[in-house]
Amino acid sequence: KKYKLGMIGLGTMGRNLLLNMADKGFSVTGYDKDQKMIAKLEDEGKNHNLEGFDNIENFIDSLQTPRTLILLVPAGPIVDSVIAELKPLLSKGDIIIDSGNSHFSDTNRRVAELENDGLHFFGMGISGGEEGARFGPSMMPGGDKNAYNVMKDIFEAIAAKVNNDPCVTYIGPGASGHFVKMVHNGIEYAIMQLLAETYGILKNGLGYSNQEIHNVFKKWNEGRLQSFLLEITTDIFPVKDTETPNDLLDMIKDEARSKGTGKWTSEVSMELQLPVPTINEAVTNRDLSKYKALRVSLEEAFGKKDSKIDISIDDLENAFYFSMISAYAQGLHLLVQASKEYKYELKLNQIAKIWRGGCIIRAKFLEDIYQAYDKNNSLEHLFGDAGIQKIIKSTLAGTRKTVAACVSSGIGIPAFASTLTYFDTITSARMPSNLIQAQRDFFGAHTFERIDKEGVFHAKWN
Ligand code: 6PG
Repeated sequence: KKYKLGMIGLGTMGRNLLLNMADKGFSVTGYDKDQKMIAKLEDEGKNHNLEGFDNIENFIDSLQTPRTLILLVPAGPIVDSVIAELKPLLSKGDIIIDSGNSHFSDTNRRVAELENDGLHFFGMGISGGEEGARFGPSMMPGGDKNAYNVMKDIFEAIAAKVNNDPCVTYIGPGASGHFVKMVHNGIEYAIMQLLAETYGILKNGLGYSNQEIHNVFKKWNEGRLQSFLLEITTDIFPVKDTETPNDLLDMIKDEARSKGTGKWTSEVSMELQLPVPTINEAVTNRDLSKYKALRVSLEEAFGKKDSKIDISIDDLENAFYFSMISAYAQGLHLLVQASKEYKYELKLNQIAKIWRGGCIIRAKFLEDIYQAYDKNNSLEHLFGDAGIQKIIKSTLAGTRKTVAACVSSGIGIPAFASTLTYFDTITSARMPSNLIQAQRDFFGAHTFERIDKEGVFHAKWN
């Protein structure tokens, strides 16, 4: 008996995804060097037709041909070493699907390297964490379309469903699947930062207790802000520490870590010259948080701020909604630009559609995004949609009040402030950038263009 699909890497994600497939009736098998992982798989999957191998030859031998393999191993050099180990055992037409958070440039390189051997390499972003992998993730597969068609049934069966539609679709050629997942994570970083700043405002600006913050978030999550990230954030506040009488949140160090996908989004945005300032602020402030000793000493030097502010919870809700919309808009704008640059032919409506369920950035608002792009798939920027414009206009006053109050009382709100100023800039027909051109021409004869005629000009400035 031969299996339809093999999973390499039986950590939490790989194991859960495999169990999800087995649930749906697919005959699947797994490989891991670590015996403990195999024991875990066989234990959790004891009612399923599942087998685990710690011998790679036997594992490969157990698969139907052409073979389909999913890699769920840590992104980076490990992916290359697993590929090197696999290569001599595979034959033409076999498919390798890398489902980790690999950098899209690595995926491009691997596609090209394996093409020479007649192997299909496929980059597929998977979102939804452990729960998602086990019961329904959102999946972003990109690469050879024929290879995708081989896998389509399995993917559609295991994906999260929204109105019966599976949260998976063919994203596009090359590394587009990993690219889209990277931008998904960039948006994830931005929304997490906005939630953290909102927590800071409620706590320091309005003096709310953790329980009160929980109540505010819980109420918000029943309305238009409904989202997975707000939901889990709401649930964090009442959790008690097991070692002290305090809330667990208060016992956690204020130094945020990251594995790189947010930074990559910012890097690519600079590369493509397509700004995503809210994502940048999220990345920057995870980094800034690590300078704890410096922050402590500088607070001593400059004094603790009296950060009490006078805004309503509705103002704050508007500010959050406004900024969340902008975070999605920036990420999608980057996808539009990348699609042109890398010829991904991305369908933004389909991407919004599969983000509505299963993934970390799933939110009620994604339905609005989906509708906007479904109406007009060549929409350059989400702010260009009439429905979205209406929402934004209604949230602006509360946003300005919130940002102004925080700025004047010294509450750090990098993501909120930068999001608002991004809006004010991108909605300006004329920016002061003419002065930059004049300065460049002044000191370096870099020339400028004129508003009244074509061509490049240089002036004698002094
Ligand atoms: C997801 C998550 C997942 C992972 C992030 C965390 O979509 O399921 O994005 O991929 O949890 O990579 O990233 P950081 O460790 O960088 O915060």
